[in-house]
Amino acid sequence: MMRLCWLLFLVAAMATLHLALGVPPSARDLRHCPTSCGDVNITYPFGIGTGCFRPGFELICNTTTKPPKLFFGNTTEISYQYAYGYVRASVVFNIATTPGLLGTYSRSWQAPGRVLSTYTTNSLVIVGCGIDVYLFRSHTNILQGYCRSECTNMALMDKKLSGRPCNGIGCCTIDLPGGVRAFRFNITQREETHSVALGNSTIMAFLSDSQFYFNTADLLSEKINANTIGATSLFFSVAITDQLNCSTAQLGLNKTDYACSDGSTCVDQRNQRGYSCTCPADSFDYDNPYLLHGCKQGIPIQFIATENKE
Ligand SMILES: *[C@@H]1O[C@H](CO)[C@@H](O)[C@H](O)[C@H]1NC(C)=O
Ligand SMILES: *[C@@H]1O[C@H](CO)[C@@H](O)[C@H](O)[C@H]1NC(C)=O
Ligand SMILES: *[C@@H]1O[C@H](CO)[C@@H](O)[C@H](O)[C@H]1NC(C)=O
Ligand SMILES: *[C@@H]1O[C@H](CO)[C@@H](O)[C@H](O)[C@H]1NC(C)=O
Ligand SMILES: *[C@@H]1O[C@H](CO)[C@@H](O)[C@H](O)[C@H]1NC(C)=O
Ligand SMILES: *[C@@H]1O[C@H](CO)[C@@H](O)[C@H](O)[C@H]1NC(C)=O
Ligand SMILES: *[C@@H]1O[C@H](CO)[C@@H](O)[C@H](O)[C@H]1NC(C)=O
Repeated sequence: MMRLCWLLFLVAAMATLHLALGVPPSARDLRHCPTSCGDVNITYPFGIGTGCFRPGFELICNTTTKPPKLFFGNTTEISYQYAYGYVRASVVFNIATTPGLLGTYSRSWQAPGRVLSTYTTNSLVIVGCGIDVYLFRSHTNILQGYCRSECTNMALMDKKLSGRPCNGIGCCTIDLPGGVRAFRFNITQREETHSVALGNSTIMAFLSDSQFYFNTADLLSEKINANTIGATSLFFSVAITDQLNCSTAQLGLNKTDYACSDGSTCVDQRNQRGYSCTCPADSFDYDNPYLLHGCKQGIPIQFIATENKE
């Protein structure tokens, strides 16, 4: 009995030691983990389920839709994940308005742990009538931009504007630079002469890194439709933000949390908290610097698979 207890203690201690040392997990450690959600493949440090993600990188697969959708937090839908540290994701707000009432609406975005930042300049697109939109950097009061959208006669808008870029009639855009990890915006509705027919419509706001083409149908629908959403995603870069930078992660008291595996390189985030890990340039696209032996450095994947067999 004593011996069994001792053995159990040892096993527990070893498991804890493994975690405490913060050694990145191996592909083998993640064998039990879901590898995809709908059409989207999942790559560590992201993951679903116990032991499948680095703390702070838990994803949710929402299976109520067909195909299922992969969410990080509740406003960021991941549509593609690159092992070398980027995700393609969409950030969409469907804001139901109250018929007959002029409302004001405030919304904000940040990924859990602020680990995602916009990769390039993109824009916040707002589809709606009779609205003023103010966009702020982070959660501060620093104004990033402003835009206004008015509507004219529906038939006229349909004829003159559908299929054209946003220009302040039916929709407007505010530029958002790269490197942004959080923002908030507020929308105020104004009295409008032509928006009567749109009394029950939804205001839609989303980030986009490509040109958005206005369509009057979007004004009348409750959600941005599936076709449109395809054009409303953008690249985000991924960072580990539980430490200030590479040196604090490597040398600090908390170096046990260091995320970069053997053979990978630590890269500081420019002017921001955190770091990321990269495999050498000659590695494969699907190499993963956050996994033990994840940077294969030119060794064919098949060889690795054979070598790991017991
Ligand atoms: C997801 O992974 C599977 C198996 O590795 C691969 O066949 C498929 O092409 C991947 N899908 C995408 C969208 O990358
Ligand atoms: C999944 O999506 C549905 C429909 O959009 C939503 O009602 C539900 O709350 C979501 N579930 C989770 C776990 O996010
Ligand atoms: C979205 O997530 C934030 C932070 O996790 C939470 O405070 C908020 O209530 C969530 N909103 C919804 C609609 O679930
Ligand atoms: C939105 O922001 C603008 C600019 O700072 C401000 O004047 C306005 O009161 C804000 N509206 C709401 C509803 O917070
Ligand atoms: C708005 O919705 C209400 C209740 O759903 C409905 O009675 C009314 O006809 C709608 N108005 C318009 C302009 O669609
Ligand atoms: C990392 O952060 C520490 C603590 O703030 C700072 O002393 C050090 O200069 C930083 N290193 C780099 C390369 O920015
Ligand atoms: C180490 O991590 C703990 C918990 O995550 C945190 O409270 C503490 O400030 C960290 N210390 C350093 C030196 O970063």
